[in-house]
Amino acid sequence: MISVKNLTKIYKIYKKTGNIFTDLFFRQYKDLVALDDVSFEIEDNELVSFIGPNGAGKTTTLKILSGILYPDRGKININGFYPFDKKKEFLRQITFVMGQKSQLFWDLPAIDTFLLNKEIYQINDNQFKKTLDNLTNILNCQNLINKPVKMLSLGERMKMEFIAALLHSPKIAFLDEPTIGLDIFSQEAIRSFIKSYQKEFKATIILTSHYLEDVKKLAKRMLIINQGKIIYDGKLTDIIKKFSQNKYITLNLDKEIDKKNLEKIALIAQYQYPKVVFQVKKDDLPEKIAIISKNIPYTDITIEDEKIEEIIKKIYKK
Ligand SMILES: Nc1ncnc2c1ncn2[C@@H]1O[C@H](COP(=O)(O)OP(=O)(O)OP(=O)(O)O)[C@@H](O)[C@H]1O
Ligand SMILES: [Mg+2]
Repeated sequence: MISVKNLTKIYKIYKKTGNIFTDLFFRQYKDLVALDDVSFEIEDNELVSFIGPNGAGKTTTLKILSGILYPDRGKININGFYPFDKKKEFLRQITFVMGQKSQLFWDLPAIDTFLLNKEIYQINDNQFKKTLDNLTNILNCQNLINKPVKMLSLGERMKMEFIAALLHSPKIAFLDEPTIGLDIFSQEAIRSFIKSYQKEFKATIILTSHYLEDVKKLAKRMLIINQGKIIYDGKLTDIIKKFSQNKYITLNLDKEIDKKNLEKIALIAQYQYPKVVFQVKKDDLPEKIAIISKNIPYTDITIEDEKIEEIIKKIYKK
């Protein structure tokens, strides 16, 4: 179980005064409260999504939970361990995957990183082979592990990142934006992999993402953090029903159309030729699409859910 109580993290950041003398010799710092009294509990084998706008404190939380950063205040208990003690038995139970950072050797095939991790985690030959076969099977990527990493696509590389991070069969996984930048097919592949890993290894997973789709497909429960504070902890189904009644239709217009004419179709969330974004009620979507198709010449159309950030804003206002 993961238990976090009153977690607070303050970064000291350098403040420029504009006075060269002061900046050079009497550097001034100010406090940036990245986490402010954060508390939550996560049960074994639970998958929780952790969302919030840029700079909300998600990565900071995961870094503290994995023992990379030291908190200023608060109690953390992960299966009886305090992360920053960095006990071997603790590190063997966890893993940290960062979508924005790679742990793979760039010029070498991924298998070389896997072999290094085998030594670091002292995985025996049998276990290593078994886990590697299993992971490459689920990810359908047996043919990739011997290619130099720099030759892999982003989606392929992400699969290798996951294998490297999971070879020691950790029970707890911190996944920081694991689908960032991937096309929808690779996102889907990673999602279904995360799901099957959770099931097969009875893993406890905290996942951060800016894609509502990840959250929807993977987690029943979500924590929303904003400016270092947890502002929602509950079921995802409740939140979408309650706060996201709209869909957004984005068109790339063929030719410029008077805003007044566009307004007749639906509420305009944004208009800057050639792009127009309509906000429509979910129930009205089929009807609005029919009207648009009939009346507006466009080259491209996309339909999206309300952005997580928008939902957060609404919750925040409440
Ligand atoms: N090493 C650091 N030194 C100073 N400030 C930092 C440091 N790391 C993060 N911060 C600040 O702490 C706050 C929280 O950052 P954090 O990286 O945890 O946000 P996040 O929720 O992961 O955001 P994103 O969605 O953009 O990844 C931000 O204001 C950030 O600028
Ligand atoms: Mg982050």
